[in-house]
Amino acid sequence: MDCFIEEIISELTLPVPKLQELSLRFEEELENGLLRPDAMLKMLPTFVFALPTGSEVGKYLTVDLGGTNLRVALVDLLGNHKYSIRKDSWPIPDSLKSGHGTKIFTFIAQKIEEFLAHPEIEAELPLKLGFTFSFPIQQESLQHGCIMGWSKEIECADVIGQDAVKLLQESLHQRGLDISVEALVNDTVGTLLAQKYRDDRTGMSVILGTGSNAAYIERCSEIKKQNFPKNDQQLTLINIEWGTFGDTEAEPLLPLTRFDVTLDSESKNSKQQKFEKMISGMYLGEIFRLILCEAVEKGIFNWTGTDETKPAASVSPYSIKTKDMSDFHEAFVSENREKCLEIIAEKFKIECSTETSDKIITQLARLCESISLRSCCLCAVGITAVYRRLIRHDIIKSTDLFTVAVDGSLYQHYPNYSKILQELVCQMTRGSDEACCRIVLVMAEDLSSVGAAAAIAAIENIK
Ligand code: BGC
Repeated sequence: MDCFIEEIISELTLPVPKLQELSLRFEEELENGLLRPDAMLKMLPTFVFALPTGSEVGKYLTVDLGGTNLRVALVDLLGNHKYSIRKDSWPIPDSLKSGHGTKIFTFIAQKIEEFLAHPEIEAELPLKLGFTFSFPIQQESLQHGCIMGWSKEIECADVIGQDAVKLLQESLHQRGLDISVEALVNDTVGTLLAQKYRDDRTGMSVILGTGSNAAYIERCSEIKKQNFPKNDQQLTLINIEWGTFGDTEAEPLLPLTRFDVTLDSESKNSKQQKFEKMISGMYLGEIFRLILCEAVEKGIFNWTGTDETKPAASVSPYSIKTKDMSDFHEAFVSENREKCLEIIAEKFKIECSTETSDKIITQLARLCESISLRSCCLCAVGITAVYRRLIRHDIIKSTDLFTVAVDGSLYQHYPNYSKILQELVCQMTRGSDEACCRIVLVMAEDLSSVGAAAAIAAIENIK
């Protein structure tokens, strides 16, 4: 058992010099993405030109379509960096995740209608709506954007190329709802805007949830691949779509293991989003499961499930969730042996005898730790690349604090994830200045709807 586990852990381990090398390459790709439309990173202009100051006021309806949940909220921006929010959320039914994409928009309109059924919310009508869409969109204004593709195992090809706002607006009209969609933002953009509303030093946002991605503040004059106001002072936000880092390389750029290769080839968007597949919550549990499959095949662990569900790459994919891994790791860290054994039996279905259980618990925890640490390391690669770019281009000063808003279930709940990520970004950017780290990661829990509201309010402030 020891040899097998050690070998896998060493394959999953990324030493700091390797991370620095990847981060430099990431920085080059940030530049390429601003120069060329066919670059590895999409680097999508967001058409956000008015950044919130925290003084905006107004009530807005917001909708946030993620990879797992749909959230509807009434956001009241109160000014003075304050807001109140009333929200509801629903899991997105699996039946909507493939087939006709229009079903998703009908579902959204139906849930908005349910949300508005509360008399005190309905009394606020007509309302302007900010739409947070957690998938890549090619925008030509803040009010429009074509769906470029799906990710996170959603596959509704028929609406690719269509305007997400038009699809939503049509579904709302069909229900006779007096709502106009005034802003379309990616979840990274919503999170950045919301945190900017709370704290002006914010320059970047990262999502570490079902999917992973980041956005940051850029100068319009740097976006050379399309016509933009060339006024040097004008700032905007770029949705990096960082999940595609490494996708277009003939020679693999990312240190993929055989488990990553299998996961990718079995996924609905094979050859795409390889970086995301090594980082985000949709996939970590599956990487862990694929490792267990190999361990069972090699007789290192004994499988206790039925023959039909015997682990094999193609049998019951995604049956171990990142949440199961996280719960197990949490139980291990808090020395809750009973809970560890319960998860091993019920979720991992690995045999543990009295003699072997301590060893098995430790080895499984080490695997979980390595998978989650690798995710943290790759995320740090992206954050530090953006940070260096912003300093190099004089958008921030190396002496300033740089706030990065981070949201997503992995960051919020995976044991020690947030702490380790903070340590890593410091380690990678500290240079000779041992005492100082200017990058501050802050939890921006479920904030993207506040950002979508702030996007509308910030334009209204200018008018
Ligand atoms: C999508 C991004 C999104 C991220 C986090 C990725 O799969 O491509 O647009 O921001 O997930 O939700």
